[in-house]
Amino acid sequence: MSLTDTYTLSNGHKIPVIGFGTWQSADGDVAYQAVKWALEAGYRHIDTAAIYGNESSVGRAIKDSGISRDDLFVTTKLWNDAHNYDKAKAALDTSLDKLGLDYVDLYLIHWPNPAALRNEQENAWESANADTWLALEAAYENGKAKAIGVSNFQIHHLEALAKTQKIAPMVNQIFLNPSDHQNELVAYNKAHNILTEAYSPLGTGKLIDLSPVNDIAKKYNKSIPQILIRWSLDKGFLPLPKSTHQEYIQANSDVFDFALSIEDIQTLDALEHTAGEHLDADKADF
Ligand SMILES: NC(=O)c1ccc[n+]([C@@H]2O[C@H](COP(=O)([O-])OP(=O)(O)OC[C@H]3O[C@@H](n4cnc5c(N)ncnc54)[C@H](OP(=O)(O)O)[C@@H]3O)[C@@H](O)[C@H]2O)c1
Repeated sequence: MSLTDTYTLSNGHKIPVIGFGTWQSADGDVAYQAVKWALEAGYRHIDTAAIYGNESSVGRAIKDSGISRDDLFVTTKLWNDAHNYDKAKAALDTSLDKLGLDYVDLYLIHWPNPAALRNEQENAWESANADTWLALEAAYENGKAKAIGVSNFQIHHLEALAKTQKIAPMVNQIFLNPSDHQNELVAYNKAHNILTEAYSPLGTGKLIDLSPVNDIAKKYNKSIPQILIRWSLDKGFLPLPKSTHQEYIQANSDVFDFALSIEDIQTLDALEHTAGEHLDADKADF
């Protein structure tokens, strides 16, 4: 495997097995430089979102890299202020404009149940998502998104969406690392041919200090982040590591010359609940 190896989504679109994360990479020089370094290091899959506020810098780095559009995979996400048909349509156009792209490879509904909707009426999220999804389906059909999916959806959100969807989500991007396995959701995704993307593969940095991971890292002569990224790949997930340091960006992609033993995977699995868990999407305050 390498950075240009791919998984195949349910619609046949290919997605590179590691994506480069950009949450909290500040718009301007920081995000621009991070994405530039990532592309130089060989990453071909970039993960951003409208709410990250850095789509313009990400787009500039992509353009300046000179890499052919066909060789890149770019994901962005619809924020919580745009959960209806018209707003979702406009939000994608705004993202494309900022990114300087004609299409994204993957467009995701970022969260299933925006806090603002909860004040309107009970289960307002259900019809809001159905309406929003119509806009994503239209974007898929008119080519502005080569694939469409969701993020932070739990099983009940996916099942509600399934009642009205014409096109099933191709991806569910969720918080996933040795501290939170979300086993039932992962199994549900798999059974429905939805690729599971693992966000915060390093627990937003919190997993880097755990000593059991350090012991394993020493054994393989690898760094802790490399072990955590490998855990994701060995589980069949698509990890999205983020960094703004060139050295880390390069190192985080050097994970293709080893695989973890079953015992070491079990040791990592035993870290569940030790370094954070996913937010409850129905209670998050945004
Ligand atoms: N869909 C969603 O709701 C959602 C939510 C969260 C994240 N995500 C996606 O997933 C991506 C990754 O998740 P994340 O941003 O939470 O964090 P992460 O990738 O789990 O961890 C990033 C942190 O680890 C540090 N780090 C990275 N590589 C390192 C290395 N080799 N050595 C030491 N430290 C290292 C980074 O530092 P520096 O940056 O200082 O180098 C940063 O503080 C995001 O950027 C985003 O694209 C999506």
